[in-house]
Order: sequence, then C-alpha cells, then structure tokens
Amino acid sequence: MCGIVGYIGKEPSKILINKLKKLEYRGYDSAGIAVGSVNNIRIFKAVGEIKNLEKTVVPAKDAAFGIGHTRWATHGKPDETNAHPHLSSDRKWIVVHNGIIENYAVLKEKLSGKGYAFYSETDTEVIAKLLEYYSGKTCGDLNIIAETLAALKGSFALGIINAEKDGIYFAKNKSPLFIARNGENVMLASDIICFKGFAEEYYALPDGVFGFADKNGIKFFDSIGETDIKPCILDLDEYDDLNKYKHFMLKEIYETKSAVKNILEYYSGINIDKVFSGCDFGKIKRIKFVGCGTAYHACLLGAIAVEEKTGIECGAFVASEFRYSDPKISEDTLVVLISQSGETADTLAALEQAKVKGAYTVAIVNVEYSTLKKGAHAYLPIKAGVEIAVASTKAFSAQLVVLEIFAEMLAEKFGIKHANFEGVRKLYENFDYGNVNSYKLLADALRYNDRLFMIGRGRDYCIAQEASLKIKETSYINSDTYYAGELKHGFLALIDEQTYVIVFATQKNVLQKTLCNAEEARARGAKIILFTCFDLDQSETENFYYVIKIKEIDGGLQNVLSIVPWQIIAYYTSVSKGINPDKPRNLAKSVTVE
Ligand code: F6R
Repeated sequence: MCGIVGYIGKEPSKILINKLKKLEYRGYDSAGIAVGSVNNIRIFKAVGEIKNLEKTVVPAKDAAFGIGHTRWATHGKPDETNAHPHLSSDRKWIVVHNGIIENYAVLKEKLSGKGYAFYSETDTEVIAKLLEYYSGKTCGDLNIIAETLAALKGSFALGIINAEKDGIYFAKNKSPLFIARNGENVMLASDIICFKGFAEEYYALPDGVFGFADKNGIKFFDSIGETDIKPCILDLDEYDDLNKYKHFMLKEIYETKSAVKNILEYYSGINIDKVFSGCDFGKIKRIKFVGCGTAYHACLLGAIAVEEKTGIECGAFVASEFRYSDPKISEDTLVVLISQSGETADTLAALEQAKVKGAYTVAIVNVEYSTLKKGAHAYLPIKAGVEIAVASTKAFSAQLVVLEIFAEMLAEKFGIKHANFEGVRKLYENFDYGNVNSYKLLADALRYNDRLFMIGRGRDYCIAQEASLKIKETSYINSDTYYAGELKHGFLALIDEQTYVIVFATQKNVLQKTLCNAEEARARGAKIILFTCFDLDQSETENFYYVIKIKEIDGGLQNVLSIVPWQIIAYYTSVSKGINPDKPRNLAKSVTVE
C-alpha cells in the first residue's frame, strides 16, 4: 500500500499533488511532499486525504523537483510526524517509501547505539538515517544507496532526494515502481496511471534495481553495475471521469455489463492451447485457487465451477494462510491466483511458493502490467477496466465470468468437451441490474442495523460472503455469513426480534432446504429478507419481511446477477450513512504489505 511519486520539471508541487490524487486508492490516511531545488527543499505534510495536503502547500517559483507520498499506516499512527517524507538527522537525505522494512527494529537499535535519534515510529525513517550513516562510511551517492539497500530486508519502492543534488534517486524491491521521461521531465510513480498524458513509454523497474534521474536522463543499476531496461508502451483505458456518477463505486458497478462484453469479445477468439502452453494437463490431479478478500470469494466460486466441469479436485485458499501452511503442491498441481491489482503481497508470495514447488500457475488478474501477470505461467485477463473505488465490484463480477470461461477451457484441455462460451453470451444478453428502487428501500432499512446475518448454501453461501464483505467495508455494519444448514448448530442462539437474516436462495436443488432454514430463523423472531431468482408461491414468502426477486439465468453465471444487487445495496447503505463508499476508513485498494 502507500503510493509514491517523484517529479523533475516545472511546478513540481502541483504535479505531485495531482499525481498523489491518482494514487490515493493506495492509502489516504496522511500525505506529504518534499519539493524545491538544490539546498532549498521544503517539506509539507497533512493528515487525511490529499486535498488536505493541497491546502498546506506553498508553491515555490524556482522549485525544480520533488517527491511525494500518500500513506496507509503500517508503523505508527496516521499523524503528521509519521507521514512521509522522512529525513536524516542532518536533513540531507529525504525519503518516501512504499513497503515494509522487516528488520527495521534491529537497524533502529543499531543506529540508536551509534547516537542517531528517531522522531517517528516508522520503518522508513530508518532508511533516511541509514543513508546518513553510510555517507560517513563510503563515497558517492550511488554507493551510499547500494550499501543502504543491502542492509534492508523486506519490500520497498523508494524515492530519495539528496538535498545537495539536482535529481531523484529511486530503488525497488517487491513493491511496484515505474519511471517515465518526457524531454527533460521525469516522473516516478507506484502506478503507471500517473503517466497518462505525460509519456507514451515507461520503464517497469525489476526487483533489485536502483538508479538516478535528472533532467539529462535516467540511469539504472543492479548488483553488478549499470544496466539497461527496455521501455514498455503506455496503453491505458480512459478511467478517471465520473461522468454522471457521484462515486466511482456506483460508476464501476454500472460498468459490469460492458466488462462482460469485453470478456466475451476477448475470449471468443482465444487460442486455448497457446494460453496454457507448457502445461502438461495429463499430469494435473488437483487445482488450487488462491486470493485475498473479494478475490478469495471468487476463488470459492471458481473452485466449484471448475470441479463441476472437470471432475478434478479443487480447493480455495486465502493467500495469507496458504503461504505459511506448506500446502500440498507439486508438478501435478495447477495453482490459480486471482487478483484485481496483481500486486497483493500475500497472493504474490503464494505464486512464488507454488512455482518453487513445481506447480503450473495461472494468473486471473485485472491489471495487465502487474507483477502477478508477469510472474505466472499463464495469464487470463479479466478485462474489467481500471477500478478506482476501494470496494471491488465490477472486477469481482468479471472474475466470476472469466472463471466460468476458465472452467470451459479446462474441460476442453482435459478432453471432456469443447469449450463453449454461450453462457457468457446469454449473461450479456440478459444482463439486468434489477429493481434499484427496491435496493434503495432495503439500504434505508439496513443502515440502522449494527448486526446482520447472511445465510445460503453452496454458491449462494459464497455470494453471501461477498455481499457481507461489501456491506461491512462500505457501511461499517457487522455482517456475518453462515451456511444455512449450520443455523441450528449454534448461530440460532444469536437470533432475536431485532435480527435481520438475509437468505440467499438462487439454486433450485437446495431451494426448499434453504427456505426451511429461513423458517427456523423466523420462528425465533428474525426478520427474513429473502433474495431469490425464483417465482415463489405467496404462501412460501408471506411471513418474510422483504423479498428481492432477481432475474434467473442458467448455471454458475447466475452468481453475477446475484452479486450486483448487493453491491448496489452496499453502495446506497454507505451513502445513506454519510460514508464515502470510494474510500472506506482504514482500507486501501492495493494491499502490497503482509
Ligand atoms: C474488497 C476488496 C479486497 C480485495 C483484496 C485483494 O472489496 O477489494 O478484499 O479483494 O484486498 O485484492 P486484489 O484483488 O487486488 O488482490
């Protein structure tokens, strides 16, 4: 998390602020910039969103370069002292950092023993002090930086200024960092979205690379010496216009249908053999799906879809657990990593682990220039377009669509049937956002609750998990999910007249069982909100508090039509509580730390 940016050129403070706004999805608890010219650097910091920082910045006419940071706190509370940039004691070295220095406590203790005093609780301040320490030990900025980097364990994308020099130093290890040039102007950023309108090409820094940029150009180094990096073409969709929408979350939900269209167009012409080149399907005995948060919920549904279509044993795993659990993986395993950003630290660690153990890896990912995409053997884009709102909506729906396509592709590779994407076409043709007025009414009722229960079976349970997460993160309502059949094994004790139980019932084979479970909860006083795609007899629903009926379509893609209403309900619940759904408290979009 955290976003860093650097700029060499005219009006650096204005550019840094604008670019930090683009990176705000990476964290928004505090921000800061260091701008100026040689021996004349000024630092501005503010708690909260970039707009607060913007108010404090006084632009200087002769400013020629600067670095900036938007923070998602890891070490130390979000206040101005802990906000970046951080400084060496002699104020010569100025640092912005995204990542985590795992050995910072040891380094801090060593440096304290040598007389260095620390003003913040951050791991980043250790880097600034180390630069000062190595300045006394070795000559030349690049040597000082190399020594400093060698002492660090963990992840970092760094922007560094030496206040006596004209230009910006940078370094990267396991946190994303990109750099681009336009004539004498240079821009450094955690995400290439900053380069839109600035450059047509950019450099994606590999791990272990550091360097220096000034108006004369950019130099890259690795552990051996100066190195060359090939530029990539900047190819980005339009994304940052809200159009008629008040928030990105709602705009993105309403982009789901066009994402389905993009997916259909892309995959209709796909060469399946080419996608999975190098995979020996004759060997594959199990498939593991790995992701975090919303992407993990996609994994749950992906495992069901693929197991149904291929008969191969499938399982879904939370990446942060998977990476430390010594999972059973070998050359007979396909490991599927699902992620919107492709930069989630735990998911990337799971990818590495799977590769080390000999698995064939498949990345199902939205951001096409991400580390996950580059690292996996095969790559299936989800074609959702840029997602800005912290709560993932269209990307989740697109993941479900691609997972159905993936299941069809695997069925072909395992010799079961020809891949057929007709289901996706039907989804597109029948796509329906449902009765939004009824969602708004429900949102109004839910906003007064501090506790909700959601129940379902099979695929409905997975959708309930995701609906519950959306309500939690955007509306701060404690919402729990249970398998409907588990009610009587404990959770019924929590039910009273104040309890809302939301019942997901969109699968014919377990419909009656689920309705019975709803009755069990109603008999204990719960207010039942039934969510179904079936026309039920009045007698079956008359005792329920509220019924939401959505469109019915065949198969697993029903799940897409099931989640969209809950994304809309979560949005309106959030707005009615006065919360900004695009930036829920304490969260960030790209979770690049463990
Ligand atoms: C919730 C949400 C998160 C992410 C999770 C993984 O709305 O967006 O739970 O799904 O942090 O992120 P990615 O998909 O980027 O790996």
